[in-house]
Amino acid sequence: MSEPRPVAVIVLAAGEGTRMKSQIPKVLHSLCGRSMLGHALVAAGELDPERLIVVAGHGRDEVAVEAARYAPGACVVVQDRLGGTGHAVRMVTEALGVMPGIVVVTYGDMPLLRAGTLAALVREHTAGGNAVTVLTARVPEPSGYGRIIRDGGGSLAEIVEEADATAAQRTIDEINSGCYAFDGALLADAVKRVATSNAQGQEYLTDVVAILRGDGYPAGTVLAADPAEIQGVNDRVQLAQASRACNARLLEEWMRAGVTIADPAATWIDVDVTLAPDAEILPGTHLQGRTMIGSGARIGPDCLLRDTSVGPGATVLYAVCDSSEIGADADVGPFARLRPGTRIEPRAHIGTYVELKNSTVGEGSKVPHLTYVGDADIGVHSNIGAATVFVNYDGIAKHRSTVGDYVRIGSDTMLVAPVEVGDGAYTAAGSVITEDVPPGALGVARSKQHNSEGWVERRRPGTPAAEAAARARRAAEAAPAEGKGPAEGKGPAEGKGPAEGKGPAGSKGPAEGKGPAEGKGPAGSNGLARSNGLAGDKGADEGTQAR
Ligand code: UD1
Ligand code: CA
Repeated sequence: MSEPRPVAVIVLAAGEGTRMKSQIPKVLHSLCGRSMLGHALVAAGELDPERLIVVAGHGRDEVAVEAARYAPGACVVVQDRLGGTGHAVRMVTEALGVMPGIVVVTYGDMPLLRAGTLAALVREHTAGGNAVTVLTARVPEPSGYGRIIRDGGGSLAEIVEEADATAAQRTIDEINSGCYAFDGALLADAVKRVATSNAQGQEYLTDVVAILRGDGYPAGTVLAADPAEIQGVNDRVQLAQASRACNARLLEEWMRAGVTIADPAATWIDVDVTLAPDAEILPGTHLQGRTMIGSGARIGPDCLLRDTSVGPGATVLYAVCDSSEIGADADVGPFARLRPGTRIEPRAHIGTYVELKNSTVGEGSKVPHLTYVGDADIGVHSNIGAATVFVNYDGIAKHRSTVGDYVRIGSDTMLVAPVEVGDGAYTAAGSVITEDVPPGALGVARSKQHNSEGWVERRRPGTPAAEAAARARRAAEAAPAEGKGPAEGKGPAEGKGPAEGKGPAGSKGPAEGKGPAEGKGPAGSNGLARSNGLAGDKGADEGTQAR
């Protein structure tokens, strides 16, 4: 049997929400990544009504924008003064005319209400042939709610608001949730007859019950199985309670679907997050937006993932990831930040204090430590040495860089974009790479090292360093003649000059570098490093990477 389809669902959302003490209209406050209005519209939408109607007043423009997000075809009816819930519904019937069929009324500030509960209300309404069916709840603390008053036969007779109730009526613990299913034609007529002769001087929608009973129509109730569902949110305390309840409900559903959540009280997920069976979520983790976690992936502790997908078997530890993709069996963190547009391919490794933005790291590649990768594409099985920076911004524009496959970027390399490092290439540690490095080449771009021999003993006499240096020198002097170093008679003044520099950086680097002595003293009078030659010999074999 197909479910009865309502002709309309009316979501009341004109209230001011004074107790929120907020610039934002009450129904636009969010829990679990969705506004209260969004929660109400999603639940209402599941009834597949012909029309979804939102009554807006306070903050109506923002409310209309949010309504369109969740229900693009929704119709917004403006209630320009808060004349009461009956007045709100009258505004709808006056604006849209009589709607013959089932009309459901619900609230924009009741975010825990389940679609299934609304569906049960509609089903019961249809089965009972009622003019009105009220969703009720039994609560330990009924004050503030309208009470359900039954006649001698136990049928719904009327709803009395707290302010208008007698002491005896106030002891009734069955309350009006504020959700109803109506016969649309009867509602349109009855709502015109609602008086304002009550304690609040408002048009009460609740009075429609007594009016329809007076006309001889049947009225019924459906008791909410879980009274928590009809909890309204009026202030920030209730918003926090509803958030926790919504979160707990989501986590429970995921745990029942096969996800391990180590500590539900310390785990927060949004409604649009999806988790595969055997995913494991550790404490302090926040999964937001449209985040997707694959099977066997392990997230946390202490991660914040927003709109990020994580492949099966991947590990993310102490990380903040936004609008990124993490491939299967990749691992990220601890202490990594993935900014929007980052793609980590399968089995890649992102380590500690690494930030990436708008970049791809190819399969099996590693960015293990202290690195910024911005606007770059890194191929497969490459290694980016510690403290590398992809220098992507020239002060005006961003530029992209490319690193090929099986590349070894030495530690402390600056890759000044736009620049390309070819497949199988290396860069020497400490290089500032401004020119492309062809495939298989070693790129070296750094000044030469010069040791000003004996400098400490001459220039820092009497210091512990000078004493240590003297001890080392005497030990070397006492050593057998084949020993190398100062004992061979190379004094500080014997350093060779820049002219002797050989190798790629030789012509430039040393001459520009000022030694510690700043051009004075022995270091200054002598040149700089000797063999510039294969800085790379060392660099490539040992000096390029940190592990
Ligand atoms: C209402 C019910 C009460 C019920 C309670 C459940 C009436 C007269 N009383 O009381 O029986 O137990 O809800 O929470 O209906 N709204 C408008 N326009 C208005 C007035 C209200 O759109 O002019 C909206 C509010 O934004 C809110 C909802 O209707 O979403 C309920 O209004 P509220 O003033 O909170 O009703 P209560 O007095 O709590
Ligand atoms: Ca209320």
